Amino acid sequence: MTQNTLGIDFGTSNSAAGIAVNGKAYLVDIEPGQKTIPTAIFFDFDARKTVFGTQANRALMAGLEGRYMRALKSILGTSLMHEKRRYLGESLSFVDIIARILTRIKTRAEDACHQRFDYALSGRPVHFHSDNAARDAQALADLTECYLRAGFKGVDFMFEPEAAALAANPAGDENTVHLIVDIGGGTSDFTLFRKASGGIDILASHGVRIGGTDFDRSISFDHVMPELGRGAEIKNAMGAGTLIAPNRLFYDLATWQMIPFLYTPEVLQEVAHLRQQAVKPQLFGRLFDVLESQLGHDVAFAVEAGKIAANKSGGGGGNINLSIVEKGLQVALGQDMLTASLADHMGAIKAGVLDTLKAAEIGATQVGSVIFVGGSSLIEDVQTLMAEMFPQACVHQTEAFTAVVDGLALAATARNRG
Ligand SMILES: Nc1ncnc2c1ncn2[C@@H]1O[C@H](COP(=O)(O)OP(=O)(O)OP(=O)(O)O)[C@@H](O)[C@H]1O
Ligand SMILES: [Mg+2]
Repeated sequence: MTQNTLGIDFGTSNSAAGIAVNGKAYLVDIEPGQKTIPTAIFFDFDARKTVFGTQANRALMAGLEGRYMRALKSILGTSLMHEKRRYLGESLSFVDIIARILTRIKTRAEDACHQRFDYALSGRPVHFHSDNAARDAQALADLTECYLRAGFKGVDFMFEPEAAALAANPAGDENTVHLIVDIGGGTSDFTLFRKASGGIDILASHGVRIGGTDFDRSISFDHVMPELGRGAEIKNAMGAGTLIAPNRLFYDLATWQMIPFLYTPEVLQEVAHLRQQAVKPQLFGRLFDVLESQLGHDVAFAVEAGKIAANKSGGGGGNINLSIVEKGLQVALGQDMLTASLADHMGAIKAGVLDTLKAAEIGATQVGSVIFVGGSSLIEDVQTLMAEMFPQACVHQTEAFTAVVDGLALAATARNRG
């Protein structure tokens, strides 16, 4: 890979692209005035066109007739990637759909930089799937296919936290050990490194499949889905007594990337049946309306906004506003409730950091600085956890949404010269 390489951070929630100019990262405006865009696509059924990023989010919020998708990176490596469905008269797999997002980024970068980009240097999590090696390898093969289908002649990959390490340029001498903690939308990734003459010396990188979309799912499952029937009683059709409504549907509705798969006649029929059998039909009536009106992503956005507001409240907590589902409907989200919903995820992140230390064969007390990257590193519980694990370390917050792409931009351009 020698010529015309574009650095691309294809994120679960947000994406960005750039090159280096005079040794500094230059990020492309993928949308006017925007260095990062939501990794989202909307097939507009009325206008019969496809829109991306902020426009896709706006189309969803405006309630336009169509199909919205986000968090598609989480589908890489699964069998869903290669299933075809019809959108706007075309039969498309998720490889095709992700390729369209990448083509959009490529084209915008080419327009902005007045040059062709035949190659990409893409970020990748250390593990797409941290508990399944075959699926992890398949995810990389899938993403490679997406880049090729997007018109790139080739793609190389760099671990996202290593890209962030490259861009970080932290204070301290060559003896200081730094830890990148990149908590994004889909994965948490860690790199231990030292500064070295002319670059960085990487001691270890590791990652777990936990991110902000998992935080959203847990909050939604715990606090929003009960308003739509999770845990509610259903009359037992086979005999006396009641059963609890099955959780699977609620789990998928609370999961960003699974929402579009619920918009089928079969699922609506299942929910209509639950409503009929329910002890409290009103809750399942809401669920039916959410699915029929395809409001799953609107609910996910409400949960995400509630999470961010509760997190920012300094302990005061907040609300999840569900007026899109029913006028005046909202659920409280106190800091304690947020912490309880995130507890298992914090445990997984802690284990991931400990495994990173183990791989580098160093102890926690040897880490001199912790560098936060990624939108979900702004979560209080993440910051508290790292302060507990590394009480002696200095803590730095990078540009949460661009640190990874900055490093990719620098590395991509270094390859062009090499
Ligand atoms: N102020 C905030 N407080 C807490 N979480 C936030 C905040 N802003 C954004 N987030 C969360 O950060 C996540 C997105 O972060 P980011 O853009 O770094 O992810 P990504 O790079 O797209 O994902 P990944 O690297 O895992 O593929 C989302 O889950 C979002 O809800
Ligand atoms: Mg990221």
